[in-house]
Amino acid sequence: MTDRHDLPPGFRWGVATAAYQIEGAAREDGRGPSIWDTFTAREGTVRDGHTGDTACDHYHRWHEDVALMRGLGVDAYRFSIAWPRVQPTGQGAVNGAGLAFYDRLVDALLDAGIEPLPTLFHWDLPQALEDGGGWLERDTAYRFAEYAAVVADRLGDRVRSWITLNEPFVHMVYGYALGNHAPGRALLLDALPVAHHQLLGHGLAAAELRARGGAVLITNNLTPVRPASGSAEDLAAAEAYDTLHNRLFNDPVLLGSYPDLSAFGVSADLGGAVRDGDLELIAAPLDGLGVNYYNPTLITAPADPGLPFADAPIEGVPRTAFGWPVVPDGLRELLVGLRGRYGAALPPVTITENGCSYPEDLDDQDRISYLSTHLDALAAAAAEGVDVRGYFTWSLLDNFEWAEGYHQRFGLVHVDFDSQKRTPRASYAWYRDLIARHHTLHARRVH
Ligand code: BGC
Repeated sequence: MTDRHDLPPGFRWGVATAAYQIEGAAREDGRGPSIWDTFTAREGTVRDGHTGDTACDHYHRWHEDVALMRGLGVDAYRFSIAWPRVQPTGQGAVNGAGLAFYDRLVDALLDAGIEPLPTLFHWDLPQALEDGGGWLERDTAYRFAEYAAVVADRLGDRVRSWITLNEPFVHMVYGYALGNHAPGRALLLDALPVAHHQLLGHGLAAAELRARGGAVLITNNLTPVRPASGSAEDLAAAEAYDTLHNRLFNDPVLLGSYPDLSAFGVSADLGGAVRDGDLELIAAPLDGLGVNYYNPTLITAPADPGLPFADAPIEGVPRTAFGWPVVPDGLRELLVGLRGRYGAALPPVTITENGCSYPEDLDDQDRISYLSTHLDALAAAAAEGVDVRGYFTWSLLDNFEWAEGYHQRFGLVHVDFDSQKRTPRASYAWYRDLIARHHTLHARRVH
């Protein structure tokens, strides 16, 4: 039987975070406002009115956080760069103090023997760009590529790999279609140009990064989709949802084409957004696909017409504090399914997020169980031939969980948000020992 110790030699262990969720210092050192500052300032958007103004105060406590990662023995750290720290209005003038923060962080990580893996966009668009239409506008893709070039010019001598976008699906759906994330627009299917403009931004930025010698990944949030029954209606609904969630952002990047969106009444050019040459740019070869996995999705035919699918609850499985179903084998199913769908077009996969929220306890046995069973599922996918290169736990620290504020705790390390005291949980020691054992096993095999 395969388990987590069978993951391949050279496999990279890490933790992940994102700028708005941990940094705080929202108005310091020339940082411009982002859409999340605007959104959280609006009443009724985030549970209990929480904001990321201070978050984990990582902007001032990054030394301590790097030391925590050194203690874990991780090979790599996935963090995100706040675009409005680097370019306060999203274009033109560069804020030296903002870039200097990431410059120091990268040096400190390398000194600690940790590879930096920055994500360039984890949802904190400069507000000035949103004022001009945000990702609904094609121009934002070009601004994103310019920003990518600015960052790579400064950090590219030390950063080997980059992630362009984090979960463009979630950003489009929650941010622009439903409005429960920033920028809070509720455009339903009229949000679809946001998909294309984000992907175009990815393609343009990838070219800039590669021209500077960087390796490029994109991170998509994926879910195995299961039909609630074998009825033709449920099967069609599941296929429609799978197309939207899993194919809309993978097919253009991996195959150079959009999937058939006719179930949504949407044309192949996404309402006129796609222009000649765009798909060639978007489909330039990737060095890796970042996959975020949390849970599978059960889909039924909709009771009312509107969208061609409806969500159904997954019964009979444990749930996290967020209410998300815990189904570890979904990770294996997802990865094996990806390989089946994309074959040789699937680049090596890195799990760039996987984790769970549980109550505040320091003795977080539920988290240990979640992580260990998911790693076993990952090892099973590797044994079935999926080329998996790394795994990043979400998250190093309890942090600002978007519309849920500070109510969902995903950290290996507990954070007291009043005192900012960090306290490693039992899962921290468990992950540290797992990583050490993997390193030792493979060092032995090599010698
Ligand atoms: C996001 C993270 C988020 C996590 C848990 C992912 O969708 O990339 O920012 O905190 O899931 O919800």
